[in-house]
Amino acid sequence: MNRWLGRGINFGNALDALGGGSELPLDERYFDEVARAGIDTVRLPVRWSAHAEPAPPYAIDPAFFQRVDAGVRAALDRDLNVVVNVHHYHELCAAPDEHLPRFLALWQQIASHYADHCGRLCFELLNEPRGQLTAARWNAVLAQALAVVRDSNPERTVIIGSADMNDPGALPALAVPDDDHLIATVHYYAPFEFTHQGAGWVEGAEGWLGRMWGEPADENAVRDDLAEVAAWGRQQRLPLFIGEFGAFSRADMVSRARWTTFVRAEAERLGMSWAYWEFGTDFGAFDLQRSAWREPLRRALLG
Ligand code: GLC
Repeated sequence: MNRWLGRGINFGNALDALGGGSELPLDERYFDEVARAGIDTVRLPVRWSAHAEPAPPYAIDPAFFQRVDAGVRAALDRDLNVVVNVHHYHELCAAPDEHLPRFLALWQQIASHYADHCGRLCFELLNEPRGQLTAARWNAVLAQALAVVRDSNPERTVIIGSADMNDPGALPALAVPDDDHLIATVHYYAPFEFTHQGAGWVEGAEGWLGRMWGEPADENAVRDDLAEVAAWGRQQRLPLFIGEFGAFSRADMVSRARWTTFVRAEAERLGMSWAYWEFGTDFGAFDLQRSAWREPLRRALLG
């Protein structure tokens, strides 16, 4: 399955949108663009927690479910793989005890809803656990969520990530459940001061503007980071998926393209699948206004 995930892209800021920023309309033609460009996988971040009841039975809004279904169907109809996750469940990270039953109920509903979909649909349990979801707490929560998914989807590929916002450095603390259908994920945004320069949601990021990337020392740092990730994967016998990597639109395009090319090529050399963050908004590889790929980023990803 990891080989099929291959080259991917995030349809970020669509079903996960927080409001207030630029948003991606989940238009069929964007799935066409992605399939035509030679991409294998769409990662579809979904903020289920904003569309479900706050109290038992925590029912997911049927109209929202239909929007997710439309995205899943649009991908599968074009022979793309699709990764559906739980994105931006910040309340769970802040208060895991209080939100655990709701998180499990969300997965129970999502998993049974998609149980008879084909194997090209994968689940990813939680985007970027953080806060009170420390590595130890997250290990317990993830095992419970996986068990809920397995009740209805015994063989579906499930993607699990480390605590600390899927940071590669947190992989050694991840307790991998005994399960034959797992892929591990990390998010790669290093150096953060380069990839997030000018990002409005990151404190201090204005001060990083102008930071370039591409010296041999820069390349070595990425090579070392990803080699460690690969070594962990070999030791755990787990395939690896870089579920997010990308550089924000305010970084200089030459450096963005260099960094993206380098990370992507290293990932592929190490046998990892990947998904660029993201398709059409603030890291956008695709320019929605011109309805065209940003050529340097398209080339960096797809050659
Ligand atoms: C995470 C966040 C997303 C953000 C991205 C890059 O996935 O959930 O909102 O844009 O990282 O910082």
